[in-house]
Amino acid sequence: MRIIVIGRSGQVARALAERAGADLEVVRLGRPDLDLETARDIAAPLSALRPDVIVNTAAFTDVDGAERTPEACFKVNHDGARVVAASAAALGVPLVHLSTEYVFDGGSDRPYRETDPTAPLNVYGRSKLSGEAAVAEIAADHAILRTSWLYSPYSRNFFTKVLEKSRGSAEIPVVADRLGSPTTVFELARGIEQVARNLLAWRDSRQGRGMFHMTCAGATSWAGFASEILRNTGCTVRPVASDSFVELARRPMNSRLCNDRLSDVHGVVLAHWQDALSEVRTRYGDVGR
Ligand SMILES: NC(=O)c1ccc[n+]([C@@H]2O[C@H](COP(=O)([O-])OP(=O)(O)OC[C@H]3O[C@@H](n4cnc5c(N)ncnc54)[C@H](OP(=O)(O)O)[C@@H]3O)[C@@H](O)[C@H]2O)c1
Repeated sequence: MRIIVIGRSGQVARALAERAGADLEVVRLGRPDLDLETARDIAAPLSALRPDVIVNTAAFTDVDGAERTPEACFKVNHDGARVVAASAAALGVPLVHLSTEYVFDGGSDRPYRETDPTAPLNVYGRSKLSGEAAVAEIAADHAILRTSWLYSPYSRNFFTKVLEKSRGSAEIPVVADRLGSPTTVFELARGIEQVARNLLAWRDSRQGRGMFHMTCAGATSWAGFASEILRNTGCTVRPVASDSFVELARRPMNSRLCNDRLSDVHGVVLAHWQDALSEVRTRYGDVGR
């Protein structure tokens, strides 16, 4: 299987590239060759790469920055998603598109299902929701995967920031009133690969298409996640309320997603978040410092 990943240096794109092996080719396409803020038609360059499946990981992911530059955010997350979807449809290639739990307002007291009403609280969530709609409208042969709380040993994310802040500190304040499922990019990439294989295998029946939620199993608060990251480091977590931090964008209090449809249809179940953390911890020793 040959996957073309849109997005080059992002954490999910990198984790997908690491899965390449004897029966999986992964080619990443991104800036400067492909800029989704300005791209109009990318069918020709995509066709030249002979994809079996296209996976769009590229997005404007700066949630607070999106409040300051909504147009730039929508250009990538809506217009860019539309351009990728149109090319996938033109080439007749299945598309896996990534989205987010920020399409929900977080007011529910249970994990969100794919069929729950959306109501994004911020620009980023609205842009990703409109990107989902564009994909669903244009590329019938698609799976949209909503995920949440991604982290990795790469780039700056919650995991790396907590470890940075803990250095030289006995205690760090972390939000305790928002819930979600920390999801490693390695587990997510494993799930994306399986969905991609299923879309190819089920081409004729068109099984496995549509919207799916994909996160690691279990749930915790940001403070619970940070405590686990800091286990045995000598630094502890002081749980605080989310309103003790000033943020430009509003964020959902409940980010939990129900993964039942994904396991029922695709047979994909990601590891429990606590078990998955050890792989990122080990890799961080090699990559992150
Ligand atoms: N991070 C999370 O917690 C989270 C949670 C839920 C859903 N998601 C979704 O998961 C997907 C992957 O997220 P991630 O964490 O891997 O993001 P990331 O690490 O921030 O990477 C974003 C990727 O998008 C690319 N990109 C941004 N603007 C672009 C443009 N104008 N043209 C082309 N490429 C552009 C970046 O390209 P460069 O390589 O050129 O920088 C990078 O490869 C996204 O769809 C995101 O919305 C993320």
